[in-house]
Amino acid sequence: MGASPLAAAPLPVIDPSGIGGTAAVEDAMASYYVKRASYYERVYHKPERQTDLRAMEAWLGPRLAGRRVLEVACGTGWWTPHGARQARRWLATDLNPETMAVARTKPLPAGVVEFRPADAYTLAELGDETFDAAFAGCWWSHVPLQRLSAWLGTLHARLEPGARVVMLDNSFVQTSSTPITHADAQGNTYQMRTLDDGSTHEVLKNFPTPEQAIAALGPRARDPQWIDFHHYWVLEYQLS
Ligand SMILES: C[S@@+](CC[C@H](N)C(=O)[O-])C[C@H]1O[C@@H](n2cnc3c(N)ncnc32)[C@H](O)[C@@H]1O
Repeated sequence: MGASPLAAAPLPVIDPSGIGGTAAVEDAMASYYVKRASYYERVYHKPERQTDLRAMEAWLGPRLAGRRVLEVACGTGWWTPHGARQARRWLATDLNPETMAVARTKPLPAGVVEFRPADAYTLAELGDETFDAAFAGCWWSHVPLQRLSAWLGTLHARLEPGARVVMLDNSFVQTSSTPITHADAQGNTYQMRTLDDGSTHEVLKNFPTPEQAIAALGPRARDPQWIDFHHYWVLEYQLS
């Protein structure tokens, strides 16, 4: 696992909302990804991450084979073809049509994948459909700590008993990750990111320890498995 980004000098603690609210931080993150959509996948071309990525891509498909999978925050769909290749059904969702427009161009298994705009925090756009698996790539890290439990509850409410859940996300690796600039009063950490147009964006990005992530899963989670891929982590579990 990468070094903790909080292990070195204490970070300045700032509450960007002033009242501990998260809406402004979440809106800023969502619009940052709209602006970045056309070149977002450059992050998947970092040379030092290639070995981990190939291993994870190969690992993912069989874990979700034969399942009806809900993917939240699919973005440009880097993981969608890998996850969906043996799935029975795959509903890929994201708040932003702009990122999903890129995802729709991916080589996807015929008749399996559907895209639909949906807010991960409500999943209200999904009607009453339920699933026997869920997947989220590089989304957990953007969920404010104070919303994590409620978000997981909303996701789990869509999942049937016996469902398999796979989350993956970035580990903090000093030589590869964008530095953490500060933490807020709730313990969320932030990075300052620059887009191609020169604009700078403060983005909430958390790096949980395995213990922190597993502790957040709630009462239905069974048999959690944490896999350390060095630049990334994977957390897989079942629901009762
Ligand atoms: C870091 S990207 C992850 C994309 C992709 N899953 C991956 O692993 O490459 C985060 C994604 O979250 C989406 N997003 C932001 N707020 C969201 C929300 N409230 N509900 C669903 N998706 C959201 C953004 O549009 C963006 O595509």
